[in-house]
Amino acid sequence: MFYSCVPLAIAAAAAVVSASPVERAATVVIPVSHVTNVTSWKNIVNRGQARINKVNGIQAQPGFQNDASSGTITNELVSYVAPIVIGGKTWQLIVDTGSSNTWCGAQTSCEKTSTGKSTGHSVQVSYGSGSFSGTEYTDTVSFGGLTVTTQSIGAASSATGFDSVDGIFGVGPVDLTSGTVASTSTVPTFLDNLYAQKSITTEVLGVYFAPESGADQNDANGELTLGGVDTTKYTGTLTYFPKLTSGTASEYWGITVAAFTYGTTSLATAAQGIVDTGTTLIYIPTAAYTKFLSASGGKTDSSSGLAVFTTKPTSNFSIKFGTTTYALTPAQYLVPTAEYSAFGLTTGKYYAWINDGGSSGVNTIIGQKFLENYYSVFDTTNSRIGFATRA
Ligand SMILES: *[C@@H]1O[C@H](CO)[C@@H](O)[C@H](O)[C@H]1NC(C)=O
Ligand SMILES: *[C@@H]1O[C@H](CO)[C@@H](O)[C@H](O)[C@H]1NC(C)=O
Repeated sequence: MFYSCVPLAIAAAAAVVSASPVERAATVVIPVSHVTNVTSWKNIVNRGQARINKVNGIQAQPGFQNDASSGTITNELVSYVAPIVIGGKTWQLIVDTGSSNTWCGAQTSCEKTSTGKSTGHSVQVSYGSGSFSGTEYTDTVSFGGLTVTTQSIGAASSATGFDSVDGIFGVGPVDLTSGTVASTSTVPTFLDNLYAQKSITTEVLGVYFAPESGADQNDANGELTLGGVDTTKYTGTLTYFPKLTSGTASEYWGITVAAFTYGTTSLATAAQGIVDTGTTLIYIPTAAYTKFLSASGGKTDSSSGLAVFTTKPTSNFSIKFGTTTYALTPAQYLVPTAEYSAFGLTTGKYYAWINDGGSSGVNTIIGQKFLENYYSVFDTTNSRIGFATRA
């Protein structure tokens, strides 16, 4: 287990309130789980591609499903995990803006405690690279000093693809819960409930992720802010972009990409993607990825599935939203050499976090490796997504 024993530090909510007087926000520092034993990067690459297929309504490849259910992906999940208290017990749940049900029980049973109330409804969610099914109950759920007394929880009776975490803390749009719980149209998320009960006055999630420093693999360096943003966690201007209102990506935290660029080479001038805290890498459309490889001198590594280079790329890779360009320097989009041994990568080569998102439908995911460099804001109230340079 790579996230046990991580101390939880709760920042004073008052500090956030003073920084942002119009909003009542709660802030919590979340433990960050980084990989201690990656036996196959290919599974992580595949996970993101499976999510893209799921977004596009395509069945995951049988080979990958087999991998997932056979348990070979144990210890390979690269995720940010939050300690969520459900009925008095703490569960380590993946923070996922790409799905919206909250559930536990992937490792050990999380049946309702004395404060829980069974609804008797079956619940089932498929993630492309995994799935769970079980029974719904409602219970008292707390995180970041805020509490919802009747939060819907899925208690998994079976789960595949989640071998190292207890489940998911779904913070995507509520419509993604449609059809997941029997006899129920949609299931309010934890944030929906906090907003409805007026614990927060604006339904906003601020996400601060930070890369690992050096070779260490377990930093409690992430932070989620509920009901506002933490102005100490970014520098410069926080710029907002409209959440997509039509098309497949609009069911998610969908966003229009105006351009992908490598140095001065244009890779693409339009794309629709999703901003997803539950995906490790950055996926761009196949045509853009192919141009990226030829402009940077890379190819796809057959063993890791990552883009690999024999000469270190020197240009920035940039993503433009609206009229604002967000650059990733080589140091930001390449795998740090300090992590090679943990990741089983070859010394003397260079590997990028940028990968192939496919050629049809939604083929872009703005994943953790972008979000570790740019503070992100998921604003349900104003239907917009914000980015700023991470502090
Ligand atoms: C890494 O995981 C594999 C497969 O789960 C296991 O066989 C191996 O012993 C692990 N290595 C370390 C160093 O923990
Ligand atoms: C690359 O991006 C960094 C960080 O945004 C910036 O400081 C630098 O000027 C960029 N380099 C070029 C050549 O544009």
